[in-house]
Amino acid sequence: MSTASLPTPTPTRAGALEIDELTVGYGGAPVLHGVSFTLEPGEVVALLGANGAGKTTLLRALAGLVPAASGTIALDGDDLAPLRTEDRARRGVALVPDGQSVVAELTVDENLRLGALWRHRGAARERAVSGIYELFEPLARRRGSAGHQLSGGERQMLALGRALIAEPTLLALDEPSLGLAPLVVAHLMGTLRDAAASRGLTVLLAEQNVTSALSIADRGVVLDLGRVVADAPAAALAADDTLRHAYLGF
Ligand SMILES: Nc1ncnc2c1ncn2[C@@H]1O[C@H](COP(=O)(O)OP(=O)(O)OP(=O)(O)O)[C@@H](O)[C@H]1O
Ligand SMILES: [Mg+2]
Repeated sequence: MSTASLPTPTPTRAGALEIDELTVGYGGAPVLHGVSFTLEPGEVVALLGANGAGKTTLLRALAGLVPAASGTIALDGDDLAPLRTEDRARRGVALVPDGQSVVAELTVDENLRLGALWRHRGAARERAVSGIYELFEPLARRRGSAGHQLSGGERQMLALGRALIAEPTLLALDEPSLGLAPLVVAHLMGTLRDAAASRGLTVLLAEQNVTSALSIADRGVVLDLGRVVADAPAAALAADDTLRHAYLGF
């Protein structure tokens, strides 16, 4: 038997992310200046920094919503540059943007099914939807409510559920705690941590809510004016008073 007739091995979709010397700007003015850091498969990494540090820009570059001026972003060794946003999603990159990403006119159930559309069909889709309702019980109770009828916390759960149902390998979230009450944030972060662990997800969590983010993260990367100023285990970052005062505001 010739090697040409051997079946192509299924690639392992482990979710290792490597960002190397990434420079991104708007209209020629750089906002990220040669940013480099990596995420190991299954790792939860908090992306921290003050307003305007470049967190959203980095997540947008990851999702292919803004092009890199130079440098690379690789998922499991594959450069993402040639892939459009939708192809990155199929490759396993899910971005939960800040603000309202649920469809206001559709019900909770319809929003979830929309997220599952190209990943699951038939019975598998039903199982995937049930899995999200098990994860977020408040959503199960509101499955017939329209997106615009949900509370901020419920909307954020739905946005997260809609991303998870597509079974990403890499989940990037932009400030999921924004505008939520502390108890709701704690619940959301706990669910995120559990979902990441049970599904083997790699998570990049951009947050202004440093304490919450570091409470569930393995590691933190701190950006300041588009440059990485710290990359360390979460506990070390939380304990570093100088760094906290200088870049994290607490
Ligand atoms: N569409 C855009 N056009 C031009 N400049 C932009 C655009 N979006 C962001 N910027 C600029 O890029 C810089 C980084 O913004 P970015 O939104 O990435 O920061 P951030 O860390 O997410 O901040 P925040 O914590 O406030 O969300 C800021 O100076 C911002 O003004
Ligand atoms: Mg932002």
